[in-house]
Amino acid sequence: MTKSGATHEAVLPSSPSDTELSALRTRALAVMARAYAPYSNFRVGAALLGEDGAVVEGCNVENASYPAGICAERAAVAAAVAAGVQSFRAIAVATEAEEPTPPCGICRQMLVEFAPDLLVVSVTSGGRESRWTLGELLPEAFTPKSLDRR
Ligand code: THU
Repeated sequence: MTKSGATHEAVLPSSPSDTELSALRTRALAVMARAYAPYSNFRVGAALLGEDGAVVEGCNVENASYPAGICAERAAVAAAVAAGVQSFRAIAVATEAEEPTPPCGICRQMLVEFAPDLLVVSVTSGGRESRWTLGELLPEAFTPKSLDRR
C-alpha cells in the first residue's frame, strides 16, 4: 500500500492523541484570525494533521467575484499536497459561530479523496466543540475507487 495516489484509500489512520488534537485546535483558531472574509464576515480556519504528525493550515480566502473564493478546508488540503503531505488523520475547523460548523459539501468531497476515515473536529472561538468522522458526514462517497467501475 502506498501513501500516494489513489491506492491509499484503505489505510486506516491511527487516532490522534489528546496532545495532537489540542495543538490542532490551537492552530485552527490561529489561522482563522488570518482569514480574508470581508464579504461574509465568516472567518474559518482549518488545520490538517498529516499521517506523519505534520500540521498544515488553511483559511478561507474570499474574492470580489464571490465564487472565486475558497474555503479553509480546501485551502488546507491544497497547501498540504503542495508540501508533500497526502495522508491525513484529523482536521480541526475553527469558526466564530455560536455552534460548531461541519465542513461544506465541496470540502467533504475534497477531503474524502485523501482521508475517508478522517476525524473532523469543529471548534468555536467560544469554546464549543463537535466531532464527526468524515464517513458520517459524507456516506456513500464518490472516491478514487468509484472510477474503477469505468
Ligand atoms: N467556508 C469555509 O471556509 N468552510 C466551510 O466548510 C464552509 C464555508 C467559508 C466560505 C466563505 O468564505 C464563508 O465561509 C461563508 O460561507
